[in-house]
Amino acid sequence: MLRSKPDQMCGITGYVGDRPGVRTVIDMLRRLEYRGYDSAGVAVATRGDEASGLAGGGDIEIVKAAGKLAVLEGELHDYWDKYGAAIGHTRWATHGGPTTPNAHPHYSNDGRIALIHNGIIENFQELRGELQAGGFRFTSETDTEVMVHLVERAYRQNGDMEQAIRDALTHVTGAYSIVVVSAHEPDTLYAAKTASPLIVGLGDGENFLASDIPAVLPYTRRVVVLEDGDFVTVTKTGMCLTTLAGQPVTREPFTVTWDEQTAEKGGFPHFMLKEIYEQPRAIADTLRGRISPEETVILPELEAFSQKQLGAFTRVQIVACGTAYHAGMVAKRFWEHLLRRPVDVSVASEFRYGDPLVGPDTLCLVVSQSGETADTLAALREARRLGATIVSVVNVVGSSIARESDAVVYTQAGPEICVASTKAYVTQVVALYMIGLHLAFVEERLSQDALKVYVRDLTALPDAVESVLGGALLVEDLASRLAERTTFFYLGRGYDYAVSLEAALKLKEISYLHAEAYAAGEMKHGPLALVEPGVVVICFATEPRLFDKMLSNIKEVSARGGTVVAIVPEGETRADAAADEILRIPAVRTEFSPVVSVVPLQLLAYLIARARGCEIDQPRNLAKSVTVE
Ligand code: M6R
Repeated sequence: MLRSKPDQMCGITGYVGDRPGVRTVIDMLRRLEYRGYDSAGVAVATRGDEASGLAGGGDIEIVKAAGKLAVLEGELHDYWDKYGAAIGHTRWATHGGPTTPNAHPHYSNDGRIALIHNGIIENFQELRGELQAGGFRFTSETDTEVMVHLVERAYRQNGDMEQAIRDALTHVTGAYSIVVVSAHEPDTLYAAKTASPLIVGLGDGENFLASDIPAVLPYTRRVVVLEDGDFVTVTKTGMCLTTLAGQPVTREPFTVTWDEQTAEKGGFPHFMLKEIYEQPRAIADTLRGRISPEETVILPELEAFSQKQLGAFTRVQIVACGTAYHAGMVAKRFWEHLLRRPVDVSVASEFRYGDPLVGPDTLCLVVSQSGETADTLAALREARRLGATIVSVVNVVGSSIARESDAVVYTQAGPEICVASTKAYVTQVVALYMIGLHLAFVEERLSQDALKVYVRDLTALPDAVESVLGGALLVEDLASRLAERTTFFYLGRGYDYAVSLEAALKLKEISYLHAEAYAAGEMKHGPLALVEPGVVVICFATEPRLFDKMLSNIKEVSARGGTVVAIVPEGETRADAAADEILRIPAVRTEFSPVVSVVPLQLLAYLIARARGCEIDQPRNLAKSVTVE
């Protein structure tokens, strides 16, 4: 199984050579369209010499537009055939809505430097204030824009573009890959990377930069993959690779042998698998910038609510559908424990036609990846009509649910393409944990010391998920033994019950197999009658307090001939004798286990569906965003 650290946020392209720059970077962007985006833009450094057929007098020309690439192309007019070093960008909004001013490239106040970015700048608020105090004007709401002004400020001081970029980067914290083009050095592109992916495509008398390999494949198959901490200068005749601090780096190019379709998926056979492997990064991005140096949770999104307002909510109502509903079930348990008040979680389609006990004393939490699910949106509107305050947890910036909420805490999963949700689920759960911890702290139900321990355990989750992915071969073995089975039960108690529901949904969605989840204690009230040899029963037993109870359930299933697969924390051996198969997961704090224990089951669902030849990324009868009732 392939392992890498892909990333699916914004698309970046850059070109320097003798082809028309704008046309080339747009063509490259089109090859990254599968990643999803909400706005796009290009910048080209025009030399202003008549021989190259350019107008503009040695400057940077920038065109950007909200919407699809076709909208941008409609705006390009005579820019379309411009020559010169060029950069292009498709944006997946994180900070600031999907508008034209927020689209990249961002440009310096003197209009001579343009910059594109993929990632998140954590300290942008503070830098923005500092730059504004120094007279810099901002034209967008993005975190990115601070970087281009930092470059301009440094360039004014040292007159050296490369040094100015290096200097600017010393001020930012967070994750980024960036590409810069400037009128000061119109034949050169500069790029740097800390966390988000970036590659250099090496051509003959031309060179390319891109966030993903498919962008360069029609032009070259010789590629250098940049690593965290790299800084690269690219001209039409070559590239110079150094560290951010300027130490030379030698890295051999490799030749891409994948076809274009495989390359789109980062070498993975399906988007689902790619997205499963993106989870450590997605969780880290969702936490990024939201944990203070003192190990408290910072959620500026909720600043508008005073301590008094938050304390005045006597109940919490969560509404969501499908996977997002399962994330809500985890939150219910966690929040009730922390906040000591009733938290109801309802399927949005039931809530909207019920007679819910919701009013001005209710905090309504709306959870949705797409932010467009019709039932969830209708439930939000019903809750609002009844006077509730709406806080949403959404992945798509600027979506309808986000727009209609009083506050939005965005997950940072990046675009999720496979219909079956994976990275959106884990990031929803993490965002809901953070909101719960924040409220408990603000309401003084949690001491700073207790909060610190929670926060430390939260920040351990990306590594725990990475470690599950590192054991994927064991899941592959298991899948090969189970691929012919046709009936699956998923059992758990407490947090594990919520995960059982999610794991069962994954299998049924993509493999079309009968997969049912039950609260383990319910089996003896009916479903146990269905257990017979050949039936697979996946038993989650990660909660120490409930382990003995789960062990009894495992024995009940085993005695009736069912095949038991037990999910237990590392070091737990008490189920070994009773279970037919054991999957061990890293031991994490019980409340946080849903983020970790779901991962081997996502993999199992994927591998069974693949063995059965199912259409994984677009399962029959299902849509990614359910915008009808
Ligand atoms: O976009 P949303 O999170 O609102 O979507 C809700 C459900 O439609 C979604 O989670 C669905 O259940 C997924 N296909 C599950 O994998």
